Amino acid sequence: MNKFRIILSHLFFVILITLLASCSSVQYKSNGERIYFTATSSSGKPIISQGFTMMHGRIACVNCHGANGNGGNVHMMTNFEAPDITWAELTGPHEHHAPYTEATIKDAIIKGMEPNGEELEIYMPRWQMADEDLDDLLSFLKTLK
Ligand code: HEC
Repeated sequence: MNKFRIILSHLFFVILITLLASCSSVQYKSNGERIYFTATSSSGKPIISQGFTMMHGRIACVNCHGANGNGGNVHMMTNFEAPDITWAELTGPHEHHAPYTEATIKDAIIKGMEPNGEELEIYMPRWQMADEDLDDLLSFLKTLK
């Protein structure tokens, strides 16, 4: 009887730990946030990046632009600067081109193109994703300050 109780309490403990562990696993508030942090969509549709980072496997916006979109120095095979992509920064004045709009931000992400038609450096991957996913990602970028 005593043995049984000990086993039961152990079992209870194991279940408790499992529950706690599953609660603390990362949950994203939106699909856009999930894409930014993991380059995966909650719909399961593929999100593909092309560029020199292909060797890195799963790479997401956060790996270069940071959790808050502030950018900074990145070390990945070589050193480069990732720009600040907070919403105010993108849609504010730029030295070489017009402020970004929703449409031109999408062009930057998908085609690697700046508002003046020039190409972004190769460090910025070219992304392929479903239109809905791109819209969700834009909604998330709007929250970056
Ligand atoms: C491997 C690093 C890397 C990853 C991953 C990456 N970027 Fe970039 N991104 C850059 C760099 C570097 C530039 C600047 C290129 C240039 O100035 O020519 C850039 C530029 C941009 C720009 C244009 C900013 C400007 O000021 O012109 C936007 C918008 C952008 N990235 C959004 C994203 C989003 C959204 C993702 C995820 C889907 C992403 N980036 C993933 C490195 C990265």
